[in-house]
Amino acid sequence: MNDIPVEYRVDVPAPWVIGDEVDPAEPSAEWVQTWVRSKAYRTELETFRAVPAHSLLSSAGRAFLFHLVRTTLPQTVLEIGTYFAGTAEVIARALHQNGTGLLITTDPFGGERCPLIFRQWPDALRRHVRFHAINSMALAQSLAQEQRLIDVAFIDGCHDYEYVLFDALAFGKLVRPGGVLVLDNAEQPGVYRACAEFLRHNPDWSELGDAMKMEVPDNPFAPTLGRSSVPDTTFLVLRAPDYWSVAPRGFLSTGQIRHEVTSFDAVRLQFQEDPPVGRLSIEACFRAFGQTLPLELRSLLTVDLDGTEGVGTLRLPIDPVLKVPADSVNSHDYVTLEIGLYWNPTDRRTPLRLRAMPAASNA
Ligand SMILES: C[S@@+](CC[C@H](N)C(=O)[O-])C[C@H]1O[C@@H](n2cnc3c(N)ncnc32)[C@H](O)[C@@H]1O
Repeated sequence: MNDIPVEYRVDVPAPWVIGDEVDPAEPSAEWVQTWVRSKAYRTELETFRAVPAHSLLSSAGRAFLFHLVRTTLPQTVLEIGTYFAGTAEVIARALHQNGTGLLITTDPFGGERCPLIFRQWPDALRRHVRFHAINSMALAQSLAQEQRLIDVAFIDGCHDYEYVLFDALAFGKLVRPGGVLVLDNAEQPGVYRACAEFLRHNPDWSELGDAMKMEVPDNPFAPTLGRSSVPDTTFLVLRAPDYWSVAPRGFLSTGQIRHEVTSFDAVRLQFQEDPPVGRLSIEACFRAFGQTLPLELRSLLTVDLDGTEGVGTLRLPIDPVLKVPADSVNSHDYVTLEIGLYWNPTDRRTPLRLRAMPAASNA
């Protein structure tokens, strides 16, 4: 302990039990309002009134994240911007009390500081945390490659518009259907506008509050407008729809996923419900990398959905099959495949609802 600089020393008491048992619940705007009036709220607010000292959030912000994690029983929670791990401690306490779950937290400027802080935590909390000293873009790539789904994402890194928009779009894509995205510092214009832009791209997501509905184009930054979803916090809280959504005239992509197999002969789509009428355009982009120039192949598919396809899986053959030619198999080390969808509904307003991300079958 003596080798830990005084400014990094933390006082983390052994995990204690906070509040009563909570009933698992699906988060909604009503759920937030009910919580604010509950006994659990008062207990959690009191518990986190002055602790952890290093958390940059308000007491209500800490209490909300704790309650969200307790209520939704997430397997994977993400935090962008670890800072002094104060809020990471709040989340780890909730996961410990749940008895399950992992917090993945990252801070590119915390590589020296954060490991020293986590070392001071009791094992019971530390085992719920995986820390990275990389920026959010590097983490997004690594989690996408892992194909890890996130239940709760807390975006609190760089608060400039472009960074928040990147974090929301990149990690929002990894949030499982029904999962929650929390953006901190709605009082900053970049965060607020990035949230509005995220919702424009993802119109099926809903805010657990009214902050984004109150937008007034003539005076968008008016101090009288409530800017946060949860009272006494600076959070914008968004919930993913219960399906993977392709917005009208919108785009959904798997991203470039690395595969062990080297040839693909079909794209598989799983509809959540009877698909609406419209035209679905698909591009499958195949790339192989190795000692020579990358090989790049693509296949385009256009499907006119007439509403009779029904719920379930649609298998769409790729022609020609995407694969590394037999004579160059040994000069490529790995391949990636990206499947991009563009949806143009006839009524111009109905999204395409999928039960899973599009996938490919290997030939
Ligand atoms: C507001 S603080 C986070 C506070 C912390 N979440 C808490 O509640 O106590 C923002 C943190 O984001 C980190 N950060 C800045 N740019 C980042 C990026 N591109 N990716 C991830 N983290 C970043 C900073 O180093 C800083 O520690």
